[in-house]
Amino acid sequence: MRESSKPWRPFTANCCSVEGQTVFGNFSRCRPSKSEFSKDIAPLPSFRRLSFSDLSRSSSIRINEDLAQSFGADLYDFQLSELRAITQNFSSNFLLGEGGFGTVHKGYVDENMRQGLKAQAVAVKLLDIEGLQGHREWLAEVIFLGQLRHPNLVKLIGYCCEDEERLLVYEFMPRGSLENHLFKRMSMSLPWGTRLKIATGAAKGLAFLHEAEKTVIYRDFKTSNVLLDSDFNAKLSDFGLAKMGPEGSDTHVTTRVMGTYGYAAPEYVSTGHLTTKSDVYSFGVVLLELLTGRRAMDKSRPKSEQNLIDWSKPYLTSSRRLRCIMDPRLGGQYSVKGTKQMALLALQCISLNPKDRPKMAAIIETLEALQNYKDMAVTRGQWPVSQKSGRNGVAPRGRAESRGAVFRKSAPFNPKKT
Ligand SMILES: Nc1ncnc2c1ncn2[C@@H]1O[C@H](COP(=O)(O)OP(=O)(O)OP(=O)(O)O)[C@@H](O)[C@H]1O
Ligand SMILES: [Mg+2]
Repeated sequence: MRESSKPWRPFTANCCSVEGQTVFGNFSRCRPSKSEFSKDIAPLPSFRRLSFSDLSRSSSIRINEDLAQSFGADLYDFQLSELRAITQNFSSNFLLGEGGFGTVHKGYVDENMRQGLKAQAVAVKLLDIEGLQGHREWLAEVIFLGQLRHPNLVKLIGYCCEDEERLLVYEFMPRGSLENHLFKRMSMSLPWGTRLKIATGAAKGLAFLHEAEKTVIYRDFKTSNVLLDSDFNAKLSDFGLAKMGPEGSDTHVTTRVMGTYGYAAPEYVSTGHLTTKSDVYSFGVVLLELLTGRRAMDKSRPKSEQNLIDWSKPYLTSSRRLRCIMDPRLGGQYSVKGTKQMALLALQCISLNPKDRPKMAAIIETLEALQNYKDMAVTRGQWPVSQKSGRNGVAPRGRAESRGAVFRKSAPFNPKKT
């Protein structure tokens, strides 16, 4: 499973000569996006290789020189004018999506643009950096994705750093994000087999990071960061929040709490202690989203149903109950055994004690075994979604059951920030 990759190169660029501690003290602003959690935990110097002094013009020139020296032909250093040209000046007609950090536009490069660059569609992310924090995430993305190559990680083709502009150029993923497929009404429903394939692919991406020469913690695993190619192969994108794992005898890294509501592990939210098991927790949440077709956090639902974990937990341990919360868009067409195993796996992943969560390698094994279940035909048509039953086909009895259950209190974030 381990993909061969080049030995990890510490990033020791001249522009990064300021020690993390000093520089991080300047970060007065957290990520201004839906990914933000809190500004309460003091920023700690955990990413020393990625510090930088300022955003002045001379510094952006230095950054370019350093990146070019570090990555050579592996990454293309694009000019802003080139990226403007291939996206028709970042026109809304070419808009692929928008995150908390800016817009993503489709573009086309041709082989004449750069030597060795093949003609292809690309996705250009235009970061609205508005300060050092955005620059830091841009740099983290370049450094992580510039070095890590794996079939389940999106390929970074190049970057642009001009004055205060920061852009990233990725391979284009024709089927967009898992989020769009699962939750956007316009999209076709994903069949059970495809959901399983996506979960397995994404798990392989995370396992690769956790087992890399130097452990990498992804920290922002969620459906919008799982992109799909034309065959629904899953690839992880967005490494702006990724962190190097603990070294030596350390069990965790301590960091400012950042991530996305509904996906972050409770111990990380409350203590800032980050481990690979934090990613496993987020993976469990995404498994629940694949099963139920519901968002990790959905403020448009009644209060008791807004937090997917709290709402779904009482249904996860029996097939009979589970079918009440299965995504109605599956139309009952799924393997009963497979969904039950996946629900149990999700439950393990979201264990409150990180030690009780499985490793990504074990998760892959479980998910791959599910592909052999052939009980689809038995399920087909047996439990049609009734119009009378509630959202997701939850019968009134099911709701009563969930009301009676003891729920864990949700993570201590400020709901106004979502
Ligand atoms: N390489 C790509 N190919 C095709 N579409 C992409 C690509 N990268 C991003 N997108 C689209 O752009 C959207 C926005 O992505 P972006 O990473 O900026 O934000 P996000 O993941 O939705 O939110 P957040 O800012 O919280 O991470 C994605 O959901 C996806 O639909
Ligand atoms: Mg994203």
